[in-house]
Amino acid sequence: MSLRNSEHRWNWPSQVLHWSIAALILGLAALGFLLGELPRSPKYFWVYDLHKSLGLTVLALMVLRLIWRLYAGAPKPVPGTPTWQHAVASVTHWAIYIMAFAMPISGWLYDSASGLRALKFFKLFTVPKLSAPNPDLKNLAFDIHSWGIWILLALVLAHAGAALWHHFIQKDRTLMRMLPASLEKDTTT
Ligand code: HEM
Ligand code: HEM
Repeated sequence: MSLRNSEHRWNWPSQVLHWSIAALILGLAALGFLLGELPRSPKYFWVYDLHKSLGLTVLALMVLRLIWRLYAGAPKPVPGTPTWQHAVASVTHWAIYIMAFAMPISGWLYDSASGLRALKFFKLFTVPKLSAPNPDLKNLAFDIHSWGIWILLALVLAHAGAALWHHFIQKDRTLMRMLPASLEKDTTT
């Protein structure tokens, strides 16, 4: 059986990627804001390291997701969706893709350009630095990282709101087809 997405629903690899990345991004946003509140003491380095390692995990998953999305395609719009709505949804989805790459890349650049101590991925291996210490690049990367989260959160809020609106008000399959098929009685329409 093909693991690609069908005309009618997202298959499980797309769903696993969607929900795991969504949970990681929301958790990382909370952890990121917590970082700002923590005293800058070696006692809390592990929280920074956790944020950075989970952030790099999102980057790896996003690369996988983009490749998978290009290979596996997307279901057709839910029947009855006006063209403008489909266009707005597509633009929002691709904007989310861009921001979900921009966040971890800017974080990694910020870490690199700050000239901080070596970055270990979950204590497993040392992650290469993307640049030599560079205060201008460090400031730019931090601006992208700290403004980017608000852009991403605004997009996700609109996106999740639209999904719930489809489910509860429009009463169509938009949300159900991003959830396991076993939750839905009729998956063919
Ligand atoms: C950080 C959180 C989230 C991110 C980054 C995210 C990202 C995305 C992206 C990029 C797509 C397009 C699918 C693709 O082309 O790969 C998508 C689809 C979808 N998302 Fe999310 N999402 C998030 C949270 C949510 C939440 C909270 C909900 C539900 C309340 C949701 C419901 C959906 C649904 C139903 C689709 C399928 C839309 C369709 O079939 O047209 N997402 N999401
Ligand atoms: C999807 C991935 C990521 C998200 C959603 C995210 C989110 C955030 C947020 C919301 C903040 C707080 C910003 C502020 O105080 O204005 C933050 C701070 C930070 N992030 Fe990330 N981050 C991600 C990935 C990364 C990565 C991969 C790294 C490094 C390799 C990183 C390094 C940092 C550092 C060092 C700070 C603290 C800045 C400071 O207070 O000095 N982040 N992150």
